[in-house]
Amino acid sequence: MTEAILLVGGKGTRLRPLTVHTPKPMVPAAGVPFLTHQLARARAAGVEHIVLATSYLAEVFEPHFGDGSALGLHIEYVTETEPLGTGGAIRNVASRLHSGPEDPVLIFNGDILTGLDIRALVATHEESGADVSLHLTKVEDPRAFGLVPTDGTGRVQAFLEKPQTPEEIVTDQINAGAYVFRRSVIDTIPAGRPVSVERETFPDLLASGAHLQGMVDSTYWLDLGTPRAFVRGSADLVLGRAPSPAIPGRCGDSLVLPTATVAPDAKLTGGTVVGEHAVIGEGALVDGSTVLAGAVVEPNAVITESLIGEGARVGARTVLQGAVIGDGADVGPDNELREGVRVWCGAGLPAGAVRFSSDQ
Ligand code: GDD
Ligand code: MG
Repeated sequence: MTEAILLVGGKGTRLRPLTVHTPKPMVPAAGVPFLTHQLARARAAGVEHIVLATSYLAEVFEPHFGDGSALGLHIEYVTETEPLGTGGAIRNVASRLHSGPEDPVLIFNGDILTGLDIRALVATHEESGADVSLHLTKVEDPRAFGLVPTDGTGRVQAFLEKPQTPEEIVTDQINAGAYVFRRSVIDTIPAGRPVSVERETFPDLLASGAHLQGMVDSTYWLDLGTPRAFVRGSADLVLGRAPSPAIPGRCGDSLVLPTATVAPDAKLTGGTVVGEHAVIGEGALVDGSTVLAGAVVEPNAVITESLIGEGARVGARTVLQGAVIGDGADVGPDNELREGVRVWCGAGLPAGAVRFSSDQ
């Protein structure tokens, strides 16, 4: 049975302040820590043994997932004392693998929401006889990703991480963050120092003539590395656009966890999630947004494509659009916060303090 490594040690810098108290894979999406969806999808594809490579806020994973048996998995945890980068993290957990030298090992970035057919990736790997196989997807703007041009047979020709110049943008095919490594290739990554699998391991393997195989799969794919993407991904899970066996309820316009309180005339649409013990007041409109545990949305607030952190408050009539409100922040009534604004954890905004339009 194929085993897997999940890379979950990144700092989640682009998601701050969501990742001040919580590592990115543990921020709830559709009512459960995002990682739960990836673990459940791996399990559904037949994976039983998963090693979590942790670094930033490493201590929160094990208390939540334990030995993995609740998900039908055997989960192990390995924490880096210093962040080792993606390749260093893979090498650092090698001693926990049970696979033989020729066996395929799955490796996943811990922030990807996708409908990838995991079994098909392993099958492609075995049929092509590759050393490493990569899931590739096509995106409109590839600059924030690893570019992976392939030949007519899918064989990888180059790996260009985060291209800096227009000349480097040679393809719209990017590394989608799921790999199959032949076990013996993992053992060739240098141990005990930081290594980037994207900037060092893949280019070195290509230079030495290794066979890297790409599998382009155009199913649902999203990197949840930014607040906008995270909120989108959570809503897509609730709407049923992104598949997961781990959604705690039925898919639909909204997901309200059982201990939440929603006023009868509040409107929840577009895949909105209301977390445990959260409260949505009368007349509030919440569209395509995530309201985390214990947060309070007061009457007649209008919230679209935003994320409200744990225990935060959004005052009456306040308008949020594309906003992130940190854990425990207190946004007073009659504010208007738009596109890209990030209110820090615990910050307070008085009534009517910020607007993007006239108040009259
Ligand atoms: N254990 C450990 N240690 N994990 C790490 C470390 C580390 O030092 N650094 C990063 N990670 C984990 C992150 O937690 C994340 O799950 C994964 O490795 C990728 O890191 P990101 O920081 O999310 O990278 P990215 O999104 O900029 O780029 C990567 O993903 C793209 C697809 O979304 C690259 O793999 C790109 O090539 C790829 O296109
Ligand atoms: Mg990422």
